Amino acid sequence: MNRRKFLQAGATAAIGALAASRFAFAADAELVLSPSEPGALISPQIYGHFIEHLGGVIYDGVWVGQNSSIPNVDGIRKQFVDEMKRIGAPNLRWPGGCFADGYHWRDGIGKSSARPRTYNFWQRRMPAGFDLTEANQFGIHEFMQLCRLIGAEPYVAANVGSGTPAEFHDWVSYCNAPVGTVSLADERAANGDQQPFGVRYWGVGNESWGCGGTMRPEEYATQYRKFVTQFPAYTQPFLVATGPRGHSADGDIGWTTGFFEAMRGATAPDGFSIHYYTDLRPTPIKAGDFKANEWYEVLLRGVRLDKVIEDHWKEMEKFDAAHRTKLVIDEWGVWYAPGSELTPAYILSETITLRDAVHTGMTFDIFNRHAAKIAMANVAQTVNCIHSLFLAQGNNFVRTPVYHVFDMYRAHMGARQVPLNNPVAELSVPVLAGQARLPALSASASIRDRQLAVTLTNPSLDAALSVRLKLSGGARAAEARATILTHQDMRATNTFAEPDLVKPATHPVKVVADAVELTVPKQAVVLVECETR
Ligand code: AHR
Repeated sequence: MNRRKFLQAGATAAIGALAASRFAFAADAELVLSPSEPGALISPQIYGHFIEHLGGVIYDGVWVGQNSSIPNVDGIRKQFVDEMKRIGAPNLRWPGGCFADGYHWRDGIGKSSARPRTYNFWQRRMPAGFDLTEANQFGIHEFMQLCRLIGAEPYVAANVGSGTPAEFHDWVSYCNAPVGTVSLADERAANGDQQPFGVRYWGVGNESWGCGGTMRPEEYATQYRKFVTQFPAYTQPFLVATGPRGHSADGDIGWTTGFFEAMRGATAPDGFSIHYYTDLRPTPIKAGDFKANEWYEVLLRGVRLDKVIEDHWKEMEKFDAAHRTKLVIDEWGVWYAPGSELTPAYILSETITLRDAVHTGMTFDIFNRHAAKIAMANVAQTVNCIHSLFLAQGNNFVRTPVYHVFDMYRAHMGARQVPLNNPVAELSVPVLAGQARLPALSASASIRDRQLAVTLTNPSLDAALSVRLKLSGGARAAEARATILTHQDMRATNTFAEPDLVKPATHPVKVVADAVELTVPKQAVVLVECETR
């Protein structure tokens, strides 16, 4: 769609602030921000991570072993640690995913050569001739070392599907009890960690409606109560109950209703998980090679997350008017049908393009705008799986375009949300089934001290947008700078051979008293940082 058509489409969809004549700078849109009325804190945990024993995620992606020629810290890939530190990764969810409900934590402790080889849930998905037997070289001690190296909070998913409350409680005591109290704490010390791990975030199962036990919500609620009632509270926990498959056709509201209905009278969980995949597996859309309508289809399916959050939040309110329980979107990302794996054994790894980066910007804007509802989110998954920030194979390691969006959105982590009036309505875009309407400009804003951060994503493949960011309430813009992530090729990706094809660059902005003016090019994510007075 060219610029003229964009504006026509916008007119019918009530694009706001088109009166270019009012401005010296001919803005297509004026967004009004209220930095003096900050809203909810954007939890840094929203920018969180997830690694699972699956394909090439843990083994090779994260763990290369102490004797590897690949640079490592205690067996952990050094480049992974360095890059995760660089983006301030706030947390790591582990060991799954579906793997978690078949995992027995004792298999992963003690002398590494004596650890058992065990069955991995994902074996069933491996191509013929490939073995995914779990060697248990990366267990809780190695995971905690990884978290310490990065400075990330551990988020551990317990085994409800094939485990017991006793096994769960023992794991918690092993992790969190001080030495000299229960024997499990002394065992941990004998295995190398004197200090308690202090794990606070515990997932009580994973996808209990599916690979975590194919339970009905009321059955899971019973399990949840059994698993948490005798919880050894050495560290004040944040307990996350299994929530819905938000990307299913009906949004899976029935799970939320059923779970909270069955929990009446019991202590509600701290967090309620939602898994939201932009799931392209049932479509012909490919990860690396696609057409314009397939670009828009992915983004359109991605922004449906906004409604999913609203719907489940509203449903939860019927049982918990004060919203004690917050949302934890502990799996999200664009999931394509197989075909672009790094190598056949690295199942679920995908080519990550500019489209996925744009999707990430739009997703983070949704999270930021719903900051009061969301305690945590975890991308699925950080390396070599689905919506990855990194691809790693042996000595090769590359940062995908998605990594750079995480880097840019750091500006929002732990800042306060800034109310923003975004008058840009919708684009009419081609999708798989004809035409659809997509937000023409995704935006969110936050403030820390006097530093304002505004992120803007233009999903159009044709038209740039001139934007004026107007500060209300007497705030003035002192100085501003912008960073952009884009590429002229919508399919652009970073590879081992060309690792920096898609990377951030500085972008021009102009400060005009109480406003910042800029152009947001097509297919671009932009971060504006502005010092306010
Ligand atoms: O992230 C891959 C898988 O997707 C996870 O193991 C599971 O929880 C979800 O279905």
